[in-house]
Amino acid sequence: MLEKSLRDAITERRSDDRPYRMRPIPAGYLSLFRERAATLGGLVQLVSDTDREQLAAYAGSPLMVTCASGTRWPPVEIGSAEMEAPVVDHAELFVAGTPGDDALSRLRAGESISAVLLTATNIGLATCLLTEPLESRRAVIRTEVLGGTAYPHALLRVGWAPDTGAPPAVTSRCPVEDLVLPEHQ
Ligand SMILES: Cc1cc2nc3c(=O)[nH]c(=O)nc-3n(C[C@H](O)[C@H](O)[C@H](O)COP(=O)(O)O)c2cc1C
Repeated sequence: MLEKSLRDAITERRSDDRPYRMRPIPAGYLSLFRERAATLGGLVQLVSDTDREQLAAYAGSPLMVTCASGTRWPPVEIGSAEMEAPVVDHAELFVAGTPGDDALSRLRAGESISAVLLTATNIGLATCLLTEPLESRRAVIRTEVLGGTAYPHALLRVGWAPDTGAPPAVTSRCPVEDLVLPEHQ
């Protein structure tokens, strides 16, 4: 049962903003992400190398995302005097979008993103959600990556976690009582 398998992944999923390994994601998994997002009224579009080049042409510089850890995408060698080896990130990047841009669309985007992240977790893939690039690049990402047919809501880094080092700790959560007013409980 789909809902149960996704529910079971909730306690396993966590943002992993480390650089990911160079290992492709099988095409069948990419299709599965698209199907699950579509079922919930959203879409996920893989950002291709061509998309990146077009973004570079239109936006003046390539679409580059930087996680809190300093991990950068697309895969570039980052060297510095302090680092012994360059950090190379091989994450795939997806744009999550919806055909509309109203409140219901945002709800559908959230549900679609959740389903994709949990599906990836069940497969054993690492994920990291990013919205910071949309603050300055939303319009160009809509045009160049989504062909103007959908509105972007978030970027998803997806890939294979490093096989060394401890995985990131599960992020602690506020108690539900701190978030929901008593009359709604
Ligand atoms: C809506 C949303 C947007 C986020 N955008 C970014 C981002 O732009 N850059 C980043 O490094 N992390 C981003 N994060 C990840 C958070 O900083 C944080 O690491 C994460 O949500 C921790 O909880 P988790 O492990 O349950 O995902 C985002 C998370 C959410 C939910």
